[in-house]
Amino acid sequence: MCGVGLEFFSHYDRIRRLFSARVALGLFGCFGSERCAVGATCVVGLQWGDEAKGKIVDILTEKHDIVVRYQGGANAGHTVVFDGKKYKLSLIPSGIFRPNVQCVVAGGVVLNPQNFIQEMDGLIAQGIDCQNLLISTRAHIIMPWHFEEDRLMNRTTSGENIGTTMRGIGPCYRDKVGRSWAIRLGDLYREEFPQRVKMICETKNRLLFGMDPEGGENRLDAEKITADYLLYADRLRPMATDTTAYLLDALDSGKKILCEGAQGALLDIDHGTFPYVTSSNSSGVGVCSGAGLPAKSIEKLVGIIKAYTTRVGGGPFPTEQDNEIGQLIRDEGNEYGTVTRRPRRCGWFDAVAARYTARLSGATCLSVMLLDVLSKLPEIQICTEYELNGERTSHFPAHVDDLRLVKPHYITLPGWLEDITKAQSWDDLPTNAQNYVRKIGEIIGVPVEIVSVGPDRKQTIFVK
Ligand code: GDP
Ligand code: IMO
Ligand code: MG
Repeated sequence: MCGVGLEFFSHYDRIRRLFSARVALGLFGCFGSERCAVGATCVVGLQWGDEAKGKIVDILTEKHDIVVRYQGGANAGHTVVFDGKKYKLSLIPSGIFRPNVQCVVAGGVVLNPQNFIQEMDGLIAQGIDCQNLLISTRAHIIMPWHFEEDRLMNRTTSGENIGTTMRGIGPCYRDKVGRSWAIRLGDLYREEFPQRVKMICETKNRLLFGMDPEGGENRLDAEKITADYLLYADRLRPMATDTTAYLLDALDSGKKILCEGAQGALLDIDHGTFPYVTSSNSSGVGVCSGAGLPAKSIEKLVGIIKAYTTRVGGGPFPTEQDNEIGQLIRDEGNEYGTVTRRPRRCGWFDAVAARYTARLSGATCLSVMLLDVLSKLPEIQICTEYELNGERTSHFPAHVDDLRLVKPHYITLPGWLEDITKAQSWDDLPTNAQNYVRKIGEIIGVPVEIVSVGPDRKQTIFVK
């Protein structure tokens, strides 16, 4: 069935050939130059994460030379299923299963070296050799104090729980932006590293004691931390490099790059449901800064959406179904966090939110995931508009307090009430399932090119 996937790329290749022809004819100023970049494809979640990005990245990897994780960290949990095996990835790109593809962890990622090494060893134990990995020396490192800070500061200014994954993500990005206490992978190889750790530990010990005296005054042991991190650094040395230069050279030489987003656009630090967000740009706008790629190099952006909506952690969720419908979706979709096993909150597809994030991210096509999960519902709803202060609107509010107030307006579509997990092509899908997918593409205004009907690589339909 994966052969059908070639059609997706024959379209992509046609565009590339068209561009190449134009380069030859000198039709584009930019494309006329020798150094002109061939484009990158990006896979970005358009909801609150867990849209099954890992599955699509793994499939699209087949047609790429390089796969890049560019933001987030071990808060991500991406799942890939093939040949009867299920793999869970957190920091390692989902392209790792194809040894001829180079996997890159770029500078926008916050790296927990211990998690990375454990993940790599786990894969090696399962026969995946992991020889095809590079990590940016610019990637900021998650240090022990970041976990403590995540535990102590997992709240908004109004005191509500953000519900972070407790992986130290926010505190590490905070230190990156603050600059004074930041450590990057490249720093682990420098002579002054032990001195830096000592200096930071002194300050952080005071800070942590101030926030939580019960934890003691000297809870961070600089010598032990230095020794541990030097061991991690040794292990990572063969992979550590300037990935920004590597990717720019790859673009120049016409390599096909696939960028793998983590989280989802509604969790974007700047454009998501702040403060109930993650600490990186997890929408399409984060690809360039995270990977170190020029904006003009982004040629295709695959927006990944579930056929319904889920969210883990705190924050408003207008279409949430905290009832038997939500429970049915949770049971059918096994909606429990890949990283934390927390039950995910479930609800109807929110087209107001998805249209916003598709536009924000510049989605050129959509991939509708987990369609099979809805197969037991006689009727399915799609939220097409919000009502805010008595007025109907298709605008996604910028402030969470407004998002809390919106009343979703739905259209109702008939369900299909049959098993679709064995569907091999668009024509195999029941008419009502086709209509549901079509409707989503129509409302968002972006074509649906992929439909997923089960977790396995093979349960994927490429729409003509
Ligand atoms: P990611 O973080 O976006 O990569 O997504 P996760 O891996 O956290 O969550 C997606 C879950 O859905 C995983 O358990 C996948 O194996 C599973 N999955 C992916 N596609 C489908 C599908 O089409 N149907 C069903 N039932 N499960 C799917
Ligand atoms: P993938 O890549 C779903 C959520 C957390 C919390 C908020 C902030 O698997 O889609 P953080 O630890 O990042 O500071 O937590 O973001 N969150 C995710 N939700 N999928 C993810 O990643 C997530 N990564 C973070 O639940 O609400
Ligand atoms: Mg996930």
